[in-house]
Amino acid sequence: MSKGLKRIHHVEFVVGNAKQAAFFYRKAFGFDQVAYRGPETGTPESVSYVMKQGEIWMILTTPLRHEDPMNTWLTMHGDGVRDMAFEVDDIDAVFAKATGAGAEAHSEPHALGDDLGTMRTAAIRTYGEVLHTFIQRDDYKGFLPGFEIREIKGQGTGLLCIDHIVGNVSDLQMDKWVDWYNETLGLGRFVSYDDKDICTDFTALRSTVVASDDRVIKFPINEPADGLKKSQIQEYIDANLTAGVQHLALSTDDILTTIQALRDNGVEFLAVPDGYYDTVWERVGEVKEDKERIKELGILVDHDENGYLLQLFTRPLQDRPTLFFEIIQRRGSDSFGKGNFKALFETIEQEQALRGNL
Ligand code: FE2
Repeated sequence: MSKGLKRIHHVEFVVGNAKQAAFFYRKAFGFDQVAYRGPETGTPESVSYVMKQGEIWMILTTPLRHEDPMNTWLTMHGDGVRDMAFEVDDIDAVFAKATGAGAEAHSEPHALGDDLGTMRTAAIRTYGEVLHTFIQRDDYKGFLPGFEIREIKGQGTGLLCIDHIVGNVSDLQMDKWVDWYNETLGLGRFVSYDDKDICTDFTALRSTVVASDDRVIKFPINEPADGLKKSQIQEYIDANLTAGVQHLALSTDDILTTIQALRDNGVEFLAVPDGYYDTVWERVGEVKEDKERIKELGILVDHDENGYLLQLFTRPLQDRPTLFFEIIQRRGSDSFGKGNFKALFETIEQEQALRGNL
């Protein structure tokens, strides 16, 4: 039995219209809609749709009552991630360690159940207004109590797992949150990038990755750094009003097919800057994929001493320039695409300028 975190159980988004969001993530990204909770299933105050693809589980939730505090959350942040939930074996130990190390409790360990069994849950607060729920499944046979199976299949696009989840925090708050993850949840410092690694002539940020020992859970944490113009991290903080989740990286083992399918579905990706493919192969070396197809699909490539990776970033998934997805295929490399940061940021700066935020 593991003493700590086993895996990411699900990610919950609060959205303005869960019915339409479920349609979007099913039609655009190919998620199956698998379960539902709402007034018809005994939860009159909100509706939630469970979306699944590979081992990726997302809950999309909308409050139904005007006095619900979740509406204030939506007013402040817009659609976004409210909870990154972990499966654990020993919820009392995990909760006691986290709160003993200073984590603020959101809910104490308590039992939940329905006719599919019982489980135990609790939650703590992390950066911004984001939660970490803990779930000890015990003998529970369904997804979570209160949900009813309501399946609408999506056309899968080959997405497999959550590779990493990135948080943006305010200026000079990164080290504090790295220590927080280490002390409360036992996630160690995996790798750091400073503002010389991640900058253009105009904007910059710093990033440190914390990870579980088995690297199943990887959380990069970004903070803005001073540049001549406004960091994209500061733009996020301004739009989100607080720290929050910047992106979910979703893995595939066939990125060419995945990106083709997503583009066919109308998913919008950040454009690759002119000239990127003139130099990328000198930098990265040989790859198994067809280089022409990589270029046609606008996929980014990077490498480290262990191998290479292919990645691409969507444009924001809602109208505020906040949450987006990354699609990633690893071929040995366990880095995060440092070699692409500069190219990518120049594209992001162009989009920031169009929004009047540079
Ligand atoms: Fe990423």
